[in-house]
Amino acid sequence: MNYTADPQRYEAMKYNRTGRSGLLLPAISLGLWHNFGDVDVYDNAKKIIRRAFDAGITHFDLANNYGPSPGSAEETFGKMLSSDLKTYRDELVISTKAGYYMWPGPYGDFGSRKYLISSLDQSLKRMGLDYVDIYYSHRPDPHTPMEETMMALDQVVRQGKALYVGISSYSPEQTSQAADILGQLGTPCLIHQPRYSMLDRWVENGLLDTLETLGIGCIAFSPLAQGVLTDRYLQGIPKDSRAGKPTGFLQPDQVTQEKLEIVNKLNSLAKERGQSLAQMAIAWLLKDDRVTSVLIGASSVEQLNNNLETLNNLGFSDDELRRIDEIIR
Ligand SMILES: NC(=O)c1ccc[n+]([C@@H]2O[C@H](COP(=O)([O-])OP(=O)(O)OC[C@H]3O[C@@H](n4cnc5c(N)ncnc54)[C@H](OP(=O)(O)O)[C@@H]3O)[C@@H](O)[C@H]2O)c1
Repeated sequence: MNYTADPQRYEAMKYNRTGRSGLLLPAISLGLWHNFGDVDVYDNAKKIIRRAFDAGITHFDLANNYGPSPGSAEETFGKMLSSDLKTYRDELVISTKAGYYMWPGPYGDFGSRKYLISSLDQSLKRMGLDYVDIYYSHRPDPHTPMEETMMALDQVVRQGKALYVGISSYSPEQTSQAADILGQLGTPCLIHQPRYSMLDRWVENGLLDTLETLGIGCIAFSPLAQGVLTDRYLQGIPKDSRAGKPTGFLQPDQVTQEKLEIVNKLNSLAKERGQSLAQMAIAWLLKDDRVTSVLIGASSVEQLNNNLETLNNLGFSDDELRRIDEIIR
Protein backbone atom coordinates (compact mmCIF):
# COMPACT_ATOMS: atom_id res chain seq x y z
CA MET A 1 0.00 0.00 0.00
CA ASN A 2 1.23 3.49 -0.82
CA TYR A 3 2.45 5.48 2.13
CA THR A 4 1.28 8.97 3.00
CA ALA A 5 2.85 10.55 6.06
CA ASP A 6 0.63 11.53 8.99
CA PRO A 7 -0.37 15.19 8.50
CA GLN A 8 -0.09 15.65 12.27
CA ARG A 9 3.50 14.41 12.40
CA TYR A 10 5.04 17.64 13.64
CA GLU A 11 2.66 18.17 16.54
CA ALA A 12 4.00 15.89 19.27
CA MET A 13 7.74 16.04 18.65
CA LYS A 14 10.07 18.59 20.22
CA TYR A 15 12.89 19.99 18.06
CA ASN A 16 16.17 21.24 19.49
CA ARG A 17 18.82 23.43 17.93
CA THR A 18 22.06 21.62 17.16
CA GLY A 19 24.74 23.64 18.95
CA ARG A 20 25.08 27.08 17.39
CA SER A 21 23.89 25.98 13.95
CA GLY A 22 20.74 26.48 11.92
CA LEU A 23 19.75 22.82 12.11
CA LEU A 24 16.99 21.57 14.41
CA LEU A 25 16.92 17.90 15.33
CA PRO A 26 14.10 15.93 16.95
CA ALA A 27 14.58 15.28 20.67
CA ILE A 28 14.38 11.59 19.77
CA SER A 29 16.13 10.28 16.66
CA LEU A 30 16.19 6.75 15.28
CA GLY A 31 19.36 4.75 14.64
CA LEU A 32 19.59 1.81 12.25
CA TRP A 33 22.58 0.00 13.75
CA HIS A 34 20.55 -3.11 14.63
CA ASN A 35 17.18 -4.43 13.37
CA PHE A 36 17.46 -3.03 9.82
CA GLY A 37 19.98 -5.39 8.23
CA ASP A 38 19.41 -8.15 5.70
CA VAL A 39 19.19 -10.65 8.59
CA ASP A 40 16.10 -8.79 9.86
CA VAL A 41 12.49 -8.87 8.66
CA TYR A 42 12.05 -6.06 6.14
CA ASP A 43 8.37 -5.58 6.90
CA ASN A 44 9.16 -4.90 10.57
CA ALA A 45 11.92 -2.44 9.62
CA LYS A 46 9.50 -0.67 7.30
CA LYS A 47 6.83 -0.36 9.99
CA ILE A 48 9.32 1.11 12.46
CA ILE A 49 10.61 3.69 9.98
CA ARG A 50 7.08 4.69 8.92
CA ARG A 51 5.95 5.04 12.51
CA ALA A 52 9.04 7.10 13.35
CA PHE A 53 8.45 9.57 10.53
CA ASP A 54 4.74 9.75 11.35
CA ALA A 55 5.69 10.71 14.92
CA GLY A 56 7.94 13.58 13.84
CA ILE A 57 11.26 11.73 13.91
CA THR A 58 12.97 13.51 11.05
CA HIS A 59 16.45 12.22 11.78
CA PHE A 60 17.65 8.73 10.81
CA ASP A 61 21.20 7.74 11.67
CA LEU A 62 23.20 5.19 9.69
CA ALA A 63 26.78 4.13 9.09
CA ASN A 64 28.50 2.29 6.27
CA ASN A 65 28.87 -0.88 8.36
CA TYR A 66 25.36 -1.15 9.89
CA GLY A 67 23.59 -4.42 9.22
CA PRO A 68 24.49 -7.19 9.41
CA SER A 69 25.62 -7.72 6.69
CA PRO A 70 27.64 -4.49 6.61
CA GLY A 71 25.98 -2.01 4.27
CA SER A 72 22.59 -3.68 4.39
CA ALA A 73 21.00 -1.15 6.78
CA GLU A 74 21.77 1.55 4.21
CA GLU A 75 20.22 -0.67 1.55
CA THR A 76 17.10 -1.12 3.70
CA PHE A 77 16.86 2.62 4.20
CA GLY A 78 17.41 3.18 0.47
CA LYS A 79 14.53 0.83 -0.26
CA MET A 80 12.31 2.76 2.16
CA LEU A 81 13.34 6.03 0.56
CA SER A 82 12.42 4.87 -2.89
CA SER A 83 9.10 3.26 -1.87
CA ASP A 84 7.86 5.62 0.87
CA LEU A 85 9.99 8.62 1.70
CA LYS A 86 11.29 10.02 -1.57
CA THR A 87 8.76 12.84 -1.66
CA TYR A 88 9.73 13.74 1.92
CA ARG A 89 13.50 13.98 1.26
CA ASP A 90 13.63 17.65 2.27
CA GLU A 91 11.94 16.82 5.60
CA LEU A 92 14.63 14.27 6.48
CA VAL A 93 18.02 14.51 8.10
CA ILE A 94 19.96 11.40 7.07
CA SER A 95 23.40 10.75 8.46
CA THR A 96 26.06 8.19 7.75
CA LYS A 97 29.62 7.53 8.87
CA ALA A 98 32.89 5.84 8.11
CA GLY A 99 35.64 4.92 10.55
CA TYR A 100 35.24 1.26 11.49
CA TYR A 101 36.26 -1.73 9.40
CA MET A 102 34.28 -1.95 6.18
CA TRP A 103 36.34 -3.68 3.47
CA PRO A 104 39.57 -5.65 3.27
CA GLY A 105 42.93 -4.11 2.60
CA PRO A 106 44.47 -0.90 3.92
CA TYR A 107 41.75 1.50 2.66
CA GLY A 108 38.57 0.29 4.35
CA ASP A 109 39.09 1.32 7.98
CA PHE A 110 39.87 4.33 10.23
CA GLY A 111 40.25 7.92 8.99
CA SER A 112 42.21 8.41 5.78
CA ARG A 113 40.89 10.67 3.03
CA LYS A 114 40.98 7.60 0.77
CA TYR A 115 38.58 5.70 3.07
CA LEU A 116 36.22 8.52 4.02
CA ILE A 117 35.60 9.74 0.50
CA SER A 118 35.23 6.36 -1.20
CA SER A 119 33.03 5.07 1.63
CA LEU A 120 30.64 8.00 1.31
CA ASP A 121 30.33 7.32 -2.42
CA GLN A 122 29.39 3.73 -1.60
CA SER A 123 26.87 4.83 1.06
CA LEU A 124 25.18 7.27 -1.34
CA LYS A 125 24.84 4.49 -3.90
CA ARG A 126 23.36 2.05 -1.35
CA MET A 127 20.78 4.61 -0.23
CA GLY A 128 20.12 6.00 -3.70
CA LEU A 129 20.90 9.53 -2.50
CA ASP A 130 22.73 12.49 -4.03
CA TYR A 131 23.81 13.72 -0.63
CA VAL A 132 23.55 12.95 3.08
CA ASP A 133 22.70 15.61 5.61
CA ILE A 134 25.44 14.74 8.09
CA TYR A 135 28.66 12.84 7.39
CA TYR A 136 30.67 11.63 10.38
CA SER A 137 34.17 10.50 11.14
CA HIS A 138 32.99 7.45 13.12
CA ARG A 139 36.01 7.35 15.42
CA PRO A 140 39.33 9.09 15.87
CA ASP A 141 42.28 7.55 14.02
CA PRO A 142 45.49 7.57 16.06
CA HIS A 143 47.66 7.14 12.95
CA THR A 144 46.15 9.58 10.44
CA PRO A 145 46.87 13.29 10.90
CA MET A 146 43.66 14.94 12.16
CA GLU A 147 44.11 17.51 9.34
CA GLU A 148 43.69 14.77 6.71
CA THR A 149 40.46 13.40 8.23
CA MET A 150 38.98 16.88 8.65
CA MET A 151 40.01 17.94 5.14
CA ALA A 152 38.15 14.90 3.80
CA LEU A 153 35.02 15.98 5.73
CA ASP A 154 35.38 19.53 4.42
CA GLN A 155 35.82 18.22 0.90
CA VAL A 156 32.61 16.16 0.83
CA VAL A 157 30.68 19.25 1.88
CA ARG A 158 32.29 21.27 -0.90
CA GLN A 159 31.45 18.49 -3.36
CA GLY A 160 27.81 18.68 -2.32
CA LYS A 161 27.81 15.11 -0.98
CA ALA A 162 27.09 16.19 2.62
CA LEU A 163 25.48 19.28 4.09
CA TYR A 164 27.09 19.09 7.53
CA VAL A 165 29.85 17.11 9.22
CA GLY A 166 30.28 15.55 12.63
CA ILE A 167 32.57 13.40 14.73
CA SER A 168 31.88 10.42 16.96
CA SER A 169 33.63 9.17 20.09
CA TYR A 170 36.35 11.86 19.99
CA SER A 171 37.78 12.87 23.39
CA PRO A 172 37.37 16.49 24.54
CA GLU A 173 40.92 17.29 23.37
CA GLN A 174 40.44 15.61 20.00
CA THR A 175 37.10 17.41 19.64
CA SER A 176 38.71 20.82 20.18
CA GLN A 177 41.43 20.00 17.68
CA ALA A 178 38.96 18.72 15.07
CA ALA A 179 36.67 21.75 15.54
CA ASP A 180 39.61 24.09 15.21
CA ILE A 181 40.78 22.55 11.93
CA LEU A 182 37.26 22.40 10.51
CA GLY A 183 36.69 26.02 11.53
CA GLN A 184 39.82 27.09 9.65
CA LEU A 185 38.65 25.17 6.60
CA GLY A 186 35.28 26.94 6.74
CA THR A 187 33.13 23.88 7.48
CA PRO A 188 32.05 24.04 11.14
CA CYS A 189 31.76 20.87 13.18
CA LEU A 190 27.99 20.50 13.59
CA ILE A 191 27.67 17.67 16.05
CA HIS A 192 29.38 15.07 18.21
CA GLN A 193 27.92 11.58 18.64
CA PRO A 194 29.10 10.01 21.91
CA ARG A 195 27.81 7.03 23.87
CA TYR A 196 25.85 8.42 26.80
CA SER A 197 23.43 6.77 29.20
CA MET A 198 22.73 6.44 32.91
CA LEU A 199 25.19 3.52 32.82
CA ASP A 200 27.94 5.35 30.91
CA ARG A 201 28.53 8.95 31.91
CA TRP A 202 32.01 9.59 30.46
CA VAL A 203 30.80 12.67 28.54
CA GLU A 204 30.18 14.45 31.83
CA ASN A 205 33.97 14.56 32.40
CA GLY A 206 34.68 17.42 30.01
CA LEU A 207 33.11 16.51 26.67
CA LEU A 208 29.73 18.21 27.26
CA ASP A 209 31.49 21.36 28.51
CA THR A 210 33.73 21.38 25.45
CA LEU A 211 30.76 20.99 23.11
CA GLU A 212 28.90 23.82 24.81
CA THR A 213 31.89 26.14 24.59
CA LEU A 214 32.48 25.32 20.93
CA GLY A 215 28.78 25.51 19.97
CA ILE A 216 28.68 21.89 18.80
CA GLY A 217 25.54 19.77 19.23
CA CYS A 218 25.44 16.42 21.00
CA ILE A 219 23.47 13.33 19.96
CA ALA A 220 23.68 10.57 22.56
CA PHE A 221 23.97 7.01 21.24
CA SER A 222 22.95 3.79 23.03
CA PRO A 223 20.87 5.82 25.53
CA LEU A 224 19.28 2.58 26.77
CA ALA A 225 22.67 0.83 27.02
CA GLN A 226 21.58 -1.35 24.07
CA GLY A 227 18.43 -2.40 25.93
CA VAL A 228 19.98 -3.11 29.34
CA LEU A 229 18.40 0.10 30.69
CA THR A 230 14.88 -1.21 30.09
CA ASP A 231 12.80 -4.01 31.52
CA ARG A 232 14.08 -6.31 28.73
CA TYR A 233 16.49 -8.37 30.85
CA LEU A 234 14.79 -8.34 34.25
CA GLN A 235 13.59 -11.93 33.85
CA GLY A 236 16.62 -13.33 32.04
CA ILE A 237 17.83 -12.99 28.46
CA PRO A 238 14.99 -13.38 25.94
CA LYS A 239 15.90 -15.27 22.73
CA ASP A 240 14.71 -12.42 20.50
CA SER A 241 16.69 -9.73 22.38
CA ARG A 242 19.95 -8.15 21.25
CA ALA A 243 21.88 -10.11 23.87
CA GLY A 244 20.02 -13.31 22.93
CA LYS A 245 20.48 -13.09 19.14
CA PRO A 246 23.66 -14.37 17.49
CA THR A 247 23.90 -11.16 15.43
CA GLY A 248 23.63 -8.73 18.38
CA PHE A 249 26.59 -6.58 19.45
CA LEU A 250 25.52 -6.91 23.09
CA GLN A 251 26.99 -10.08 24.56
CA PRO A 252 25.10 -12.05 27.24
CA ASP A 253 28.05 -11.65 29.64
CA GLN A 254 27.63 -7.85 29.46
CA VAL A 255 24.21 -8.20 31.10
CA THR A 256 25.75 -8.61 34.55
CA GLN A 257 24.07 -9.15 37.91
CA GLU A 258 25.62 -5.89 39.10
CA LYS A 259 23.99 -3.95 36.25
CA LEU A 260 20.67 -5.72 36.76
CA GLU A 261 20.61 -4.69 40.42
CA ILE A 262 20.97 -1.05 39.36
CA VAL A 263 18.39 -1.54 36.62
CA ASN A 264 15.91 -3.05 39.09
CA LYS A 265 16.21 -0.04 41.41
CA LEU A 266 15.84 2.37 38.49
CA ASN A 267 12.85 0.41 37.27
CA SER A 268 11.08 0.89 40.62
CA LEU A 269 11.78 4.62 40.54
CA ALA A 270 10.50 4.86 36.98
CA LYS A 271 7.29 3.11 38.06
CA GLU A 272 6.82 5.68 40.83
CA ARG A 273 7.05 8.36 38.13
CA GLY A 274 4.43 6.50 36.10
CA GLN A 275 6.98 5.81 33.36
CA SER A 276 8.78 2.84 31.84
CA LEU A 277 12.48 2.63 32.63
CA ALA A 278 13.26 3.24 28.94
CA GLN A 279 11.27 6.49 29.14
CA MET A 280 13.01 7.60 32.32
CA ALA A 281 16.43 6.82 30.82
CA ILE A 282 15.67 8.95 27.76
CA ALA A 283 14.16 11.82 29.79
CA TRP A 284 17.19 11.79 32.09
CA LEU A 285 19.45 12.53 29.09
CA LEU A 286 17.16 15.20 27.68
CA LYS A 287 17.17 17.19 30.95
CA ASP A 288 20.58 18.55 29.91
CA ASP A 289 20.17 21.35 27.34
CA ARG A 290 23.50 20.41 25.81
CA VAL A 291 21.99 17.13 24.59
CA THR A 292 20.38 17.98 21.26
CA SER A 293 18.90 14.57 20.57
CA VAL A 294 18.73 11.09 22.04
CA LEU A 295 19.50 8.46 19.41
CA ILE A 296 17.51 5.36 20.21
CA GLY A 297 17.27 1.95 18.61
CA ALA A 298 14.09 -0.14 18.49
CA SER A 299 13.28 -3.67 17.40
CA SER A 300 9.51 -3.12 17.23
CA VAL A 301 6.90 -0.42 16.74
CA GLU A 302 5.76 -1.07 20.34
CA GLN A 303 9.20 -0.18 21.70
CA LEU A 304 9.33 2.91 19.52
CA ASN A 305 5.88 4.01 20.73
CA ASN A 306 6.91 3.42 24.30
CA ASN A 307 10.03 5.56 23.83
CA LEU A 308 8.11 8.34 22.10
CA GLU A 309 5.85 8.69 25.11
CA THR A 310 8.88 9.96 27.03
CA LEU A 311 8.04 13.39 25.66
CA ASN A 312 4.95 13.52 27.89
CA ASN A 313 6.98 13.31 31.10
CA LEU A 314 10.37 14.98 30.85
CA GLY A 315 10.60 16.75 34.21
CA PHE A 316 12.45 15.53 37.32
CA SER A 317 12.18 16.73 40.90
CA ASP A 318 15.45 17.44 42.73
CA ASP A 319 14.68 14.50 44.96
CA GLU A 320 14.30 12.12 42.00
CA LEU A 321 17.57 13.32 40.51
CA ARG A 322 19.34 12.81 43.83
CA ARG A 323 17.93 9.29 44.15
CA ILE A 324 18.94 8.42 40.57
CA ASP A 325 22.47 9.69 41.24
CA GLU A 326 22.69 7.52 44.32
CA ILE A 327 21.66 4.46 42.34
CA ILE A 328 23.95 4.93 39.35
CA ARG A 329 27.10 6.46 40.81
N1 LIG B 1 28.64 6.42 16.78
C1 LIG B 1 28.78 5.20 17.20
O1 LIG B 1 29.90 4.68 17.35
C2 LIG B 1 27.55 4.42 17.53
C3 LIG B 1 27.63 3.21 18.26
C4 LIG B 1 26.45 2.56 18.60
C5 LIG B 1 25.22 3.10 18.21
N2 LIG B 1 25.18 4.24 17.47
C6 LIG B 1 23.90 4.81 17.00
O2 LIG B 1 22.97 4.87 18.07
C7 LIG B 1 21.78 4.18 17.70
C8 LIG B 1 21.12 3.60 18.91
O3 LIG B 1 21.99 2.66 19.53
P1 LIG B 1 21.37 1.43 20.28
O4 LIG B 1 20.51 0.65 19.36
O5 LIG B 1 22.46 0.76 21.02
O6 LIG B 1 20.40 2.24 21.29
P2 LIG B 1 19.59 1.86 22.59
O7 LIG B 1 18.36 2.70 22.49
O8 LIG B 1 20.45 1.98 23.77
O9 LIG B 1 19.19 0.32 22.44
C9 LIG B 1 18.20 -0.10 21.55
C10 LIG B 1 17.68 -1.47 21.96
O10 LIG B 1 17.05 -1.38 23.24
C11 LIG B 1 15.87 -2.17 23.26
N3 LIG B 1 14.73 -1.27 23.47
C12 LIG B 1 14.47 -0.08 22.88
N4 LIG B 1 13.36 0.49 23.37
C13 LIG B 1 12.88 -0.37 24.31
C14 LIG B 1 11.77 -0.34 25.16
N5 LIG B 1 10.91 0.69 25.17
N6 LIG B 1 11.57 -1.38 26.02
C15 LIG B 1 12.42 -2.44 26.03
N7 LIG B 1 13.52 -2.52 25.23
C16 LIG B 1 13.74 -1.49 24.38
C17 LIG B 1 15.82 -2.91 21.94
O11 LIG B 1 16.53 -4.12 22.12
P3 LIG B 1 16.05 -5.53 21.54
O12 LIG B 1 16.63 -5.54 20.18
O13 LIG B 1 16.66 -6.50 22.47
O14 LIG B 1 14.56 -5.55 21.52
C18 LIG B 1 16.60 -1.99 21.03
O15 LIG B 1 17.14 -2.66 19.90
C19 LIG B 1 22.28 3.16 16.67
O16 LIG B 1 21.25 2.65 15.86
C20 LIG B 1 23.26 3.99 15.89
O17 LIG B 1 22.57 4.83 15.01
C21 LIG B 1 26.31 4.91 17.16
